[in-house]
Amino acid sequence: MRHVRIFDTTLRDGEQAAGGALTIDEKLEIGRQLARLRVDVIEAGFPFTSPGDFRAVDLLARELRGVEIAALSGFRREQIDATWQALKHAERPLLHIVISTSDIHLRHQLRERREAVIDITREAVGHARQYTDHIEFSAMDATRSDLDFVSDVFGAAIQAGASVVNFPDTVGYAQPPEFARMVRHIAQRTPGIENAVLSVHCHDDLGQAVANSLAAVAEGAAQVECTVNGVGERAGNAALEEIVMALRTRSDYYQAPTRVQTAELARSSRMVANYMGMVVPPNKAVIGANAFAHSSGLHQDGMLKERTTFEIMAPSDIGVDDSSIVLGKTSGRHAFRDKLERLGYALADAEFRNAFRAFKEIADRKKTITDRDLEAIVQNEQHRAFHQTFELLHVQVSTGTGAMPTATVRLRSDDGAEHFDAAIGTGPVDAIYKAINRLVRVRNRLIEFSVTSVTEGVDAIGEVTIRIESDAKVFSGHGADTDILVASAQAYVNALNRLLAGLGKDWGTPVEAHAVVEAAGVPGV
Ligand code: KIV
Ligand code: ZN
Repeated sequence: MRHVRIFDTTLRDGEQAAGGALTIDEKLEIGRQLARLRVDVIEAGFPFTSPGDFRAVDLLARELRGVEIAALSGFRREQIDATWQALKHAERPLLHIVISTSDIHLRHQLRERREAVIDITREAVGHARQYTDHIEFSAMDATRSDLDFVSDVFGAAIQAGASVVNFPDTVGYAQPPEFARMVRHIAQRTPGIENAVLSVHCHDDLGQAVANSLAAVAEGAAQVECTVNGVGERAGNAALEEIVMALRTRSDYYQAPTRVQTAELARSSRMVANYMGMVVPPNKAVIGANAFAHSSGLHQDGMLKERTTFEIMAPSDIGVDDSSIVLGKTSGRHAFRDKLERLGYALADAEFRNAFRAFKEIADRKKTITDRDLEAIVQNEQHRAFHQTFELLHVQVSTGTGAMPTATVRLRSDDGAEHFDAAIGTGPVDAIYKAINRLVRVRNRLIEFSVTSVTEGVDAIGEVTIRIESDAKVFSGHGADTDILVASAQAYVNALNRLLAGLGKDWGTPVEAHAVVEAAGVPGV
């Protein structure tokens, strides 16, 4: 049976989501998780566009094994040369070149004629061929292009040495039966297509990205480009977990399995949601919190009698059966390290010490620590460590009926100095954020605040995800603790650290934190 290649572009197209910028360490952690998930290709970035992307692609290419690493390039020689420099240490590099093919793009963006696009394609792929024989060629805005022209461009790319040709629905315009027809047309008409992998790449502007991708697989597409949780430009890309589970659950229909380890899907989804600060809606297919929750009496009755009456996938298929009790407050370092290793986390010594300290603190307040709790603790520690201009040392809140919510906060800055202040707010979170603002002094606005619980019970770990806006850029922050006020404080400090590091601005080049503080002058929010 043929396998469909899963090309994950969470770290490139996914990261283009507004406010979704990642640090290089977060990219590496997500890359490692994607390798555990066993996707076929990880697109690690667009090196020519920023030094940060260049470094990230280079790092992932050197570090990750057993998976193809792709990097996106424009069609100019200098762009291809630079992309190759970032990619060349990968075990199996895939050099991805893109050019537009629609008349709208040709007229307004490229300012080139169709004939020139064919020449540029030949020249770009031919130039890349000196570096590698694994080259992907994408026709941007393919679904609004003349299909015969796209076939001619693909034909030229294949003749020049492209091993993958990618047919993107860049603006999320196509409808599934129409997209299927387009893919069929390309497959039938493109010269040399039998020597290349036919790929699709769909955006979700009209909510059809997954449906279009699956329609293409049914027509024989051999590679699907997608992102974890469907994150990406505008309304996002096709959601990896939905495509993978549709191909698995309806293998009778598609007969096109993937190599993905589906039991890693839930963990991958949580990591991407936490690091990007993009909360997964509860009703999201496959990985939403309610995806396996049955509330109607009739459904519950059916489930009790026979699970398959109302469930087409088992939670364990995607790794959601991890609520087993694993550790408690008497557990030692050895048991903790052993458990982390079995969960796939290899922490450096300092990270391990911090995670163990956080585990002990939480275990004092929470009787039993599950795999899912451990994951929240470790991800929280890793996430905090990635950008630490300020570290939260202490937060104390006084609140209650008729009381004036007051917060005291102590932070340590990266020069080792400790700072503390207090503030009154309209509520406890407002008081905390105001106290932090008095210390950090960066003008910003809180635009999103969400709390979710990791497991059930009154002693559950709460995860807080926030988004703040500054200078028209959005920055996310995440915190996890059994005390949601502590988690709220962590999330805010984390978001401010990302802002100070310039993530979301020129996010490859950290700006001098104190300069930003001085320039801002007034405490904001
Ligand atoms: O949406 C798009 O067209 C892209 C290409 C670079 C493949 O992301
Ligand atoms: Zn795209």
